[in-house]
Parts: sequence; structure tokens; C-alpha cells
Amino acid sequence: MYYPEELIEEVRQRNDIVDVISGYVRLQKKGSNYMCCCPFHGEKTPSFSVNRARQIYKCFGCGEGGNVVTFVMKYENCSFPEALKILADRAGVELPQAEYSEEARRKESRRQKLLQINKEAATFYYYQLRTQKGERAKEYLDKRRLSEETRRKFGLGFAPVKGGELLSYLHQKGFNDELISAAGLAKIDEKRGTVTQFWNRVMFPIQDINGRVIGFGGRIMGDGDSGPKYLNSPETEIFDKSRNLYGMNYARSARTGNIILCEGYMDVISMHQAGFTQAAASLGTAFTPGQAGVIKKYTKDVLLAYDSDGAGVKAALRAIGILRAAGMSGKIINMSPYKDPDEFIKNLGQEAFQERIDNAENSFMFEIRMLERDFDMSDPEEKTSFHNQIARKLCEFSEDIERENYIEAVADKYHIGFENLRKLVVNMAAKSGGYAVPIERPRSGIQSRNKNTSEENSKKLQRLLLTWISEYPQLYPKIKSYITTEDFTQELYAKVAARMFDDIEKGCFNPAVIINMFDDENEQSEAASLFTTQLPELESEQEKEKAFKDILLKVKQNSFDYYSARSNVDIAALNKVIAGRKELEELSKTHISLK
Ligand code: GTP
Ligand code: MN
Repeated sequence: MYYPEELIEEVRQRNDIVDVISGYVRLQKKGSNYMCCCPFHGEKTPSFSVNRARQIYKCFGCGEGGNVVTFVMKYENCSFPEALKILADRAGVELPQAEYSEEARRKESRRQKLLQINKEAATFYYYQLRTQKGERAKEYLDKRRLSEETRRKFGLGFAPVKGGELLSYLHQKGFNDELISAAGLAKIDEKRGTVTQFWNRVMFPIQDINGRVIGFGGRIMGDGDSGPKYLNSPETEIFDKSRNLYGMNYARSARTGNIILCEGYMDVISMHQAGFTQAAASLGTAFTPGQAGVIKKYTKDVLLAYDSDGAGVKAALRAIGILRAAGMSGKIINMSPYKDPDEFIKNLGQEAFQERIDNAENSFMFEIRMLERDFDMSDPEEKTSFHNQIARKLCEFSEDIERENYIEAVADKYHIGFENLRKLVVNMAAKSGGYAVPIERPRSGIQSRNKNTSEENSKKLQRLLLTWISEYPQLYPKIKSYITTEDFTQELYAKVAARMFDDIEKGCFNPAVIINMFDDENEQSEAASLFTTQLPELESEQEKEKAFKDILLKVKQNSFDYYSARSNVDIAALNKVIAGRKELEELSKTHISLK
């Protein structure tokens, strides 16, 4: 459902953020802010702060931040339209049928049709499983010990041998071949006509976070059957494999405080059947940052229940990297001696699995343990290079305390002297210009992390700059001749910057409004992060001015580098570079006062 911006804004304005959040948690006034313990992560001392003037909230512990709508979305685990409805009801605003633009209406009605057709197909498959024709599929599911309740919960079905049956069912429901093929249920072939995607397979409907069927996975029932073991729907207008997870529609409300991420549909189903309703899986492809973003809205604690074989370990190591980049923490559930959660639970049962969850291994220690397998510890040379590798990985921790704790844990586990390992880490960091040497923090509060790619770094700087300007909008007129929206090389950042600069000029800037420009939840939280990046705590005006200019210069320099790299192929980029060089020069000579 798309609502016009003015309406969203009215709902937001009529719901004061302090009042709304007070309805959920106990806020205490501290200076100009209201504080409490963060409802989104466990903590004992309050670091969750709500600001009435700016109508935004921010947790300095976990980094969560946003406006009143995103708060409700996050707290109630609901979508943007659902949150809007809650807030509209609360303030007595009536949400009319939204005014659609022609384009939006067409798009929306097409999406609705594709959702409908998927739902019809799921119903068809579900019904087929319960007929005579579905006998073999039923036996297969019996063999895999899935209860009737589980089959119903996941809407399991059967695609009959004759594909034509689905087609005539869908035709009869009023869908044409173009739509059937756009939904990924068939391909239109010049010679053979319309050919269905799935036949003679057990069907697993794939649902989005709101429980709507957006695609299917189909499994063969025996080794003799033709085709790949699993066949999935292709990506379609409504099926984005990188932003959906199997089982997430249930896992989101498990309230266990964590998500178990696995690789297979069967694994998800088995775990749910055994009571682990927080299980979800990627969709036949590797885990993506988009999926991490989806999970992060519910929890930051992810337990990996990947296959115990070589491919599974490799996939787990990749997933750990993605989780870490998203600021989430991963732990690894040990599945041995079984291959996957499904087999583990079938053989050892629910309690044994719970035990494995409780004893899940820290992802860093897992990485080191996997690394160890590449070295022969009886050979002093190999042992040394193993220790060097460990030290290199330890350098990646930016927080002193965290790094020290890991040095201690690793030294202990691998019988390396703590001081020796520490020395190795310090030397390694000194060589690579990294962190581990207790370096003086630059005044601007920015540190060069070697774990972050330069792109991450540049994004962080862009976020910092936007947060600075949002805190001190009076700065904008002073810097507007130096900075343009093009300097924000992330598309979403540029959009936010454009609107922000515009609103500042019009004198109506409010971060809470800008967050609502986006209707995708991931984009909303990303937009919120642009106003809530933690600024360095600096006392004097002078220090602040210096820090701000520092960031401004760096953003400018990064933008310059970004466009330089493209200037060989792109004439617009070349122009940007020429202009950028001049601006950089001027800027470095200019004093910018905060007043
Ligand atoms: P079962 O054999 O039914 O227990 O499945 P599994 O989940 O244990 O299978 P596996 O670990 O082999 O695969 C994990 C996931 O990868 C599956 O759930 C599918 O999404 C995907 N997958 C497996 N085999 C294939 C295949 O042949 N083709 C495609 N496209 N995906 C596959
Ligand atoms: Mn399996």
C-alpha cells in the first residue's frame, strides 16, 4: 500500500515520538533527551536516547535509530504500512484509500496479480498432494517424518507429472500465459508452447516476511527422478532471492532473541517441527548482505547451522564475513557427526540440538579453528606461519578491549604465550599501519580500520558528514559551494542529501520526515543511520570545527578519488574531477565556523 507523503507526514506529526515510545518503555528525562535501556538489545545501563525536538531516537549501544514509524515497525515487528496504521489509529487519523499515481497503480496491480497467481498455484499444489496422484509425494514426506501439522504450516504440496494440469487450473482462474510465465511458473517456448517449471516434485512454497507466496522450491522424490535435486522459481518482479529467507515469516516472531540460519528448506522445516521456530534459510543461493539486513531488523544474533562438510564450512565462513560487515554477531552450531540440522535432529533429537545451540562456537574462534586445519603443527615453520596468520586476523579488531580478550582466548586455546602473541599482533599492526598499537585517536573520531574496505570507510565518512549537517543545519549555507549531492557516492545517501539540503534552504528540515521518503524497510533504516551516526564527543568549539572540516575534506577527497577512477571512461566524471580539484584546494584554505 502506498500512501501519499503528506499523509505519512501528518501521521508522524500527530504522534510525538516521546509520547509513543513512553507507551512501550519507561523514559527518563536527561538534559534535552529522554533515556532508557534499549528495547532492542540487552543492556543494564541506558544508552537509548529519544530526542523530542528532532523526533528521532538512537541507541548508542547497538546503533539502532530512526523516527516514530521505524520505532513501531521495529518494536512490533511489523511492516511500514502496518506501523503507519497503528500510529494513525492512535492519533485518530483516518487512512483513506491512497491516491495512486498511474504508474504506481499499474505496478501495484501487477504485483498483486503475481502474488495472486502464486497463491493459486500453492493452493493447487497443496490440493494435489492430498489426491491419489500425490500418493508418492505423501510417502516421501512420511519417510522424511514430517507431521501433518508441519505440512500444513509450510503449505507443502505436489506438482503433478502432467504440467498441463496447473495451466488449465490457472487459466480457469483467469490468468493468462504471459502472467503465468512472469510468475516463474512456466516458460513460453516457441516450439513447445507453454511449459510448466515444476512437474513431479514435492513443492515448497516460499513466503515473504508477511507470509505471501512469492516463489517455489521443488524437490525430486527419488534418485531415479530426472533433473536437479531442487529446482527453484527464477527471480521475478516479486521474487528477489537476495532479500528473502525461507521460514522468515515465522522466524520473525519466534522471540528467542536469535535466528538460526541454515542452508536447506528441509532443515528449516525440521527445526520448526522440533520447536526451533527461529530457523530460516537462504533460497538455494549463498547468503547475501540483503538477507543480513532483513534479519538485523529482528535480531543481531545469528546462529549458523550450516552443513558440516567442506562446502558447508566454506559457506559458513562467507556468511560470517557478511554478518560481521553488517555489524551482527555470528555463532556456529556444531553439527557433527551429522551432515545438517535435519539429520542431526532426526538422529539425536531436540534436546541434543538445544545443547548444541547453547554451546555454539564464537565465529572468530571458529575461523581460527578452520584456519588451523591448513597447517601442520608438527612443523615449526608451519606453526609459525599459523601464529602469524592468527596475529593478522587479531589486528582486525578495532576495540582495544575486544582485541585483548581475543588474544587471551586464542593464546589460551592454542597454547601460545599471551605476551608473545600480543607482541606479534602489535608488530603486525605496526607493519601494516593498523590498529593494534595503542595509537592516539584522531580528533575527528575517525579511525582507519584495515578491515573496512575503502568503500566502507568512505560511506562512514559520508554518514558522519550528513549527521554533522543535520545537527548543525546552519553549516549548510557555509559549505554549499563546496559540496554537492554528487559527492555522496551512495545512491541512497545522495537522495537523502538532496532532500536535506533542499529542506534546509526552505527552512523546514527535519530528519524524521526524510526517513519516510523510503518505503523499503532496509532503506528506511539506512536513511536513519545518516542522521544518527555517533559524532565524536568534543568539548570546544574549536575542536568541533576542526573535526567537521576534517570530515568534509575527507568526503571531498574520496569523491575526488571516486570520480578520478571513473574519469577515463566517463566525461561527466572527468568534469567533476576538474571542478573537484579546485574545490578541494579552496576548501582546505577556508575556515568554517560552527556558528
Ligand atoms: P535434502 O536432501 O532434501 O535434505 O535437502 P538439503 O536441504 O539437505 O539439501 P542440500 O544441503 O543438498 O541443499 C541445501 C539447499 O540448496 C536446498 O534446500 C536448495 O535450496 C539448494 N539446492 C540443493 N540442491 C540443489 C540443486 O540441485 N539445484 C538448486 N538450484 N538448488 C539446490
Ligand atoms: Mn538434508
